[in-house]
Amino acid sequence: MFETLEKSDHQNTDFQERVRALHNVLHKHAHSYYVIDEPSIPDTEYDKLFAELQSLEEAHPALRTSDSPTQRVGGKPMAEFATVRHTVPMLSIRTETDTEASGAESFDARIRKELRLQEGDAVVEYVAELKFDGLAMSLRYEKGILVQAATRGDGEFGEDVTHNIRTIGQIPLKLPETAPDVLEVRGEVYMRRDDFERLNARQRAKIAAGAKGEKTFVNPRNAAAGAVRQLDPGIAAQRPLSFFAYGVGEVSDVSWLTHYDLLKMLKNLGFPVSAEVNIAKGATELIAYHQKIGKLRDALPFDIDGVVYKVNSLALQQQLGFVSREPRWAVAHKYPAQEQLTTVLAIEVQVGRTGKLTPVAKLAPVFVGGVTVTNATLHNEDEARRKDVRVGDTVIVRRAGDVIPEVVSVLIEKRQNDAPMFTMPHVCPVCDSAAVREEGEADYRCTGGLFCRAQRKQAILHFAQKRAVEVDGLGDKLVDQMVEAGIVRTLPDLYKLGLTALSELDRMAEKSAQNIITALQNSKQTTLPRFLYGLGIRHVGEATAKALVKHFGKLDAIMDAPLEQLTQVADVGPVVALSLRTFFDQAHNREVIEQLRACGVTWAEGEPSPAALLALSGKTFVITGTLPTLGREELKEKLEAAGAKVAGSVSKKTHFLVAGSEAGSKLDKARELDIPILDEAGALALLNETTAGGGV
Ligand code: IVH
Repeated sequence: MFETLEKSDHQNTDFQERVRALHNVLHKHAHSYYVIDEPSIPDTEYDKLFAELQSLEEAHPALRTSDSPTQRVGGKPMAEFATVRHTVPMLSIRTETDTEASGAESFDARIRKELRLQEGDAVVEYVAELKFDGLAMSLRYEKGILVQAATRGDGEFGEDVTHNIRTIGQIPLKLPETAPDVLEVRGEVYMRRDDFERLNARQRAKIAAGAKGEKTFVNPRNAAAGAVRQLDPGIAAQRPLSFFAYGVGEVSDVSWLTHYDLLKMLKNLGFPVSAEVNIAKGATELIAYHQKIGKLRDALPFDIDGVVYKVNSLALQQQLGFVSREPRWAVAHKYPAQEQLTTVLAIEVQVGRTGKLTPVAKLAPVFVGGVTVTNATLHNEDEARRKDVRVGDTVIVRRAGDVIPEVVSVLIEKRQNDAPMFTMPHVCPVCDSAAVREEGEADYRCTGGLFCRAQRKQAILHFAQKRAVEVDGLGDKLVDQMVEAGIVRTLPDLYKLGLTALSELDRMAEKSAQNIITALQNSKQTTLPRFLYGLGIRHVGEATAKALVKHFGKLDAIMDAPLEQLTQVADVGPVVALSLRTFFDQAHNREVIEQLRACGVTWAEGEPSPAALLALSGKTFVITGTLPTLGREELKEKLEAAGAKVAGSVSKKTHFLVAGSEAGSKLDKARELDIPILDEAGALALLNETTAGGGV
């Protein structure tokens, strides 16, 4: 996949040799990253190796040679651009890899130690900022005019990219009079996520139209780097870039005492400065900032990979100074990376409980967004085609927040095999039944129903899960075995399992078999919402199951309720109601329920809610025209109190129209549909009659 270094497991490795090996691999990756814009390993991997080298050098200073990757920042500039010498070097920042709060604590502790502060002494004031994920830029203004824009390069020599940077609207070309004679503004050129998406959509369209030499970009940073290094400013101008200022290089006249005031000045001069800049007093407020931004991260319109803490006072910054070209007064505190490179081992098609076929990329395990990811959904046929993921591909996986992992894109240039493009199968990969994609739908579905082993397995797992009837210990593997062995076909089969049949399954000791039998026994006493949810009716989640039970009380009442009664339940709309009706109208589903009851699955039944008992429950009224005594709103309240639904327009589902004088089109419509028409007195009589006991 990509080249990494295995740590030697000998405790007494020759440090010198390890340092040399780290030099080699870091130099190589730095070249791919900084010079040719094609990261060969994920940032996290690079950071880890870099940090290891740093700590080895700290422990053994004699090993720190001038050619060490820690002694310079980044790689060599590209030959095509004129070289710029940074009079004030563009520094790097030390990275705190600890993604927990303690990263802020250890930074603050280090600063306090350097400043020889005691425990009782005042807290240190910091500025906390976002760590933008773009590329560093130095903008040189002379007498208020932008004369040069340069990349960081190796920190000392960068590339002159003035012609491209001039195309960025957010970067002022001329500053107000108040600007110092010489001012180098340091900041980050980046691409917003929405701009990135639009750019990639445009690129895809060009590629689809047969344009040669066009490609899509793997992430906003890569797209921004590509745009900055465009040799043709005309093309750079079409790549939407943004900028945030976060510091300065050479300045002829320093008139500020703190970093915060410097940022304020930059803002006043017309530079974009992030609104998320905060003053933070001591470690506590740094931690709070780290947590706040961690929550905000996904909602920001651009990528960040961490936050940066800086000592606010310039005097203290000077006192703290530098170590190996990193200022002691600043640190980058990262968040877990949300994107990683990995390879696609296979593309499988999974069959869900409702028969939906989902293409899933099986990945070489990779740690991303805080968890190890081995699967990434490709969603459906259209998505899989759009991304064109193939077996063997190197891909970028993203896991942001709690969102399920996704393949962002393929590194096409790394495609080495001639694996064919993925196509959706037209038969179910599990049961061979036809798989169909209905007109207007994105998904293929297996038509096998419970004949399909995959759907059967999913149905059983769904029924047995903790939130449903809960059969302890009945997991993925066991259900697989049971279904494959043919000893369980339907839900009731679970309760007919004998010890012998179970013990005969592979790797099933008698004791575990007994445990399963006991767990099944225990699961029989359940609750109606759990049972109903466990049946796996499409669109019926836990909340809906609870609402149905609350309303109807008993299972039979739910099974027999007509559509209009079902829609009377809070949160049950026509789609859910139809799904319930379809399910209970099928004889084999009723049979399953009967058998489960016969096997001893039981629950306490309740009473229907007052709303369900009301005489007008399930009836829909429409009120129109001017009523002789009551306001329309008043009658509506009375009807609703009796359990009726009052709708705004007449349809086939309307049971009664209450019409006053000057009734218009609604009255015509009701006549057309043969819907009973009442006047106010009629409606009131109906209310009296029904609340006195009878139904309608
Ligand atoms: S300050 C003396 N502030 O992070 C410190 N850098 O290694 C100089 N970066 O690629 C950098 N956001 O472009 C600083 N708010 C921020 C930053 C930031 C992103 C980047 C910078 C460079 C890397 C530092």
